[in-house]
Amino acid sequence: MKKAPWSQYISNSASETEKVGIKFAEFVSEGDIFALTGDLASGKTTFLRGVIKGLGYDGPVTSPTFTLINEYSAVNRIIHIDCYREHNIERWIDLGIIEYFNNNYIVFIEWADILYPMLPENITKMNFYHSSENVRIINLTTQ
Ligand SMILES: Nc1ncnc2c1ncn2[C@@H]1O[C@H](COP(=O)(O)OP(=O)(O)OP(=O)(O)O)[C@@H](O)[C@H]1O
Ligand SMILES: [Mg+2]
Repeated sequence: MKKAPWSQYISNSASETEKVGIKFAEFVSEGDIFALTGDLASGKTTFLRGVIKGLGYDGPVTSPTFTLINEYSAVNRIIHIDCYREHNIERWIDLGIIEYFNNNYIVFIEWADILYPMLPENITKMNFYHSSENVRIINLTTQ
């Protein structure tokens, strides 16, 4: 990714988180992989809804909690993965995710911890905190 605009962002509403996601998309490049972790309902999907919109995708962006993988086609192919409900690495391999890491897709992974051993080194990690009812803190680490 291009140099990130911030290393910590404190958002005070869901719409602010989505908006900051739209803006963040300007810093995302083809081939980028983002590993998102953090509390339940801490805004990971809300943020990514904005990012995916910002990357030029026009339709609805839903959580992949049950589908495991959602794919969007904009200027780039965008892959949105959620590991919350599937902790079996073999199952992820069977789903073909390795292919996503070696191509020029843009990949976002929620609850990414369990996939760390399979991810390339130069990913961007983001951690989300559910601070209070409407406050979410996003920390970003580029490696
Ligand atoms: N500042 C905020 N930023 C983002 N979401 C917020 C904020 N304040 C309140 N919310 C609410 O918190 C919820 C965040 O849900 P979201 O699905 O984005 O979180 P998540 O981290 O993806 O959850 P999960 O762990 O289930 O994947 C939404 O209901 C949203 O309206
Ligand atoms: Mg989510």
